[in-house]
Amino acid sequence: MTADIPADIPADIPANKRVESASSKIRTFEGETPLQVMARQGDAEQTSMTSLERFGYYTAFPFAWYPIVLGETLHVGEVRSVRLLARDLVLWRDAQGEAHVMDAYCPHLGANLAIGGRVEGCHLVCPYHWWSWDGDGRNVDIPYSDRVNSKARIRTYPTIERNGFVMFWFHPDPSQEPLWDVPDCSEYLSDEWIPVEPAEWVVRCPWQELAENGPDYIHLRTVHGAATVPVLESLEFDGWFNRLRSRVDFDTPRGPTPGRIDSDGYGPGFSVARFSGIIDTVFFNVTVPIDWETTWSMKVYRIRRLGPGEEAELKSRRVGEALVRDLCKQMSEDNVIFDNKIHNPNPALADADGPILQFRKWAAKFYAPGDPVAQGRNPP
Ligand code: FES
Ligand SMILES: [Fe+2]
Repeated sequence: MTADIPADIPADIPANKRVESASSKIRTFEGETPLQVMARQGDAEQTSMTSLERFGYYTAFPFAWYPIVLGETLHVGEVRSVRLLARDLVLWRDAQGEAHVMDAYCPHLGANLAIGGRVEGCHLVCPYHWWSWDGDGRNVDIPYSDRVNSKARIRTYPTIERNGFVMFWFHPDPSQEPLWDVPDCSEYLSDEWIPVEPAEWVVRCPWQELAENGPDYIHLRTVHGAATVPVLESLEFDGWFNRLRSRVDFDTPRGPTPGRIDSDGYGPGFSVARFSGIIDTVFFNVTVPIDWETTWSMKVYRIRRLGPGEEAELKSRRVGEALVRDLCKQMSEDNVIFDNKIHNPNPALADADGPILQFRKWAAKFYAPGDPVAQGRNPP
């Protein structure tokens, strides 16, 4: 997996000024970078290697809190089929407003509860023979029998609602209680922040490759053609969390404007990035494995109102939406790399590459054995 990483890597690294000086040696493209051209044309190749050939370490899905849906789109009484973590799930909201995530297949004769199942009060009724199941996965009614089947049990996943998402806890061991919590952020709770249209992608590589790209500031210049790149002040790995702090000069028509990009990660599935300087913007960043090949990536943005009143709101939206458009364009450029890259366990690094190995050591913590759907992921 990541056994090649020396154990003595410090948990956090000091300010890295070399990134600034090193990246400023790279010339800025006059027009588009080669990857910008490929992303715009949309005809880049996709590798024919298997995911195991490309990402040998990816033999387990990481345990984490994973967003599954924007809560406001899941109505009371609604039942949905969702495929994540190489398993079919049923997502439903009961009459009391509580959301549930469970394995989709009925322990009776295997119907998919999400395809034709219905909510009755706080129970989910199977479409096939109408057995009822409660939010803990217990059988509570068989309409043609006096007794319930007390041995039957559906796997359920602990579920919370945070920052507008329904989130579920996944661990290969179903008895493992959640190991951390995800906080509600002030930007979600306050009216001062306006939601902007979310953006989402299906990316053809594991979450770890996307996350590793976060503190890779050199690529902002070489892939995205940025004239200036942030300076990493610190990146701390603290238990299940990580914290990245950086400063940046944003390019504006009035010249460079000082600002910051800071990010807090809450395990592999969810992080919060904050941009400040031009207009305060926060984005909630979601990465959830769909299967061994692909990852669902979603970014939900909120921007701080520039002031009271409708005009200020319109202006905030315009500026925020321009920033979001730019970040989405960058994602399409990154995807050309993600669709074709491999994981190099022994990367050849330069001084200014940033804390790749520290990140990998942190990421390796989240892979635990024992998931039945991961059988066959370990080559002999
Ligand atoms: S398969 Fe679900 S009730 Fe029979
Ligand atoms: Fe990027």
